[in-house]
Amino acid sequence: MEVPKARAVLPQLRFVESVDSTNLSLQRDYAHLPDFSALAAAQQTAGQGRAGRSWVSEPGTSLSLSVLLRPNRLEISSLITLLMASTAQQALTELYPSLAVKIKWPNDLLVDERKLAGILAAVNPDQSVVVGIGINLSKQAAFESAASLSEFVTADFDSVLAAVLTRLQENWQRLQSDLSTEWLIQHLRDNCSTLGSEVRADLVTGESIVGRAKDITSDGRLIVEADQEHVLSAADVWHIRR
Ligand code: BTN
Repeated sequence: MEVPKARAVLPQLRFVESVDSTNLSLQRDYAHLPDFSALAAAQQTAGQGRAGRSWVSEPGTSLSLSVLLRPNRLEISSLITLLMASTAQQALTELYPSLAVKIKWPNDLLVDERKLAGILAAVNPDQSVVVGIGINLSKQAAFESAASLSEFVTADFDSVLAAVLTRLQENWQRLQSDLSTEWLIQHLRDNCSTLGSEVRADLVTGESIVGRAKDITSDGRLIVEADQEHVLSAADVWHIRR
């Protein structure tokens, strides 16, 4: 496969047909890589998901993209997952205006409450961050319930990759140069289906809470009103259908 549109956006993009994991590949090489080194693949043989889960990307069915970012200040590291979620939501909506893509805080994109994309970030020993996104382009046999772009639009790998890279370059520059994160948080608030929903969250402590998601703080944490107010920085969150 060729990716001319994506290369026009980012000439230094590395594209491979198959790799174990785009995230793992950049995590192995991080020490030698400059800011915004990007690797995209049409297939992963050992894709990584959250909480030690695997992420399946069979050939031709999904887009896997990872980018190594070197934050110019520490505070923005924790916003990188949300930056990718917001960016991909924006890019897909601009490319396919009929598609109702929503963000599930903090790391999924949903269509009709079904998962279209997942995001995973890892911090390297030198504080650089590898953030990866997997977007379902078409149905994978193993994941009947997941959403894919081909159910709704005629999507091609190169156009989606180019759109995400274009917006990510702009938004990454803005996150580094603007001292206020309000533009990012407001975009998340406007496009996040978690807000207003009844959610169950598994906290890192092992405790589970149920409550209504109220807001996102300026540093990207989720406020959930349960027996008391919880401010979540990392948790597995489930939307509860009513
Ligand atoms: C999740 O929903 O659990 C997160 C999935 C993240 C998958 C992407 S695909 C590109 C990058 N490389 C990986 O191995 N994982 C991420």
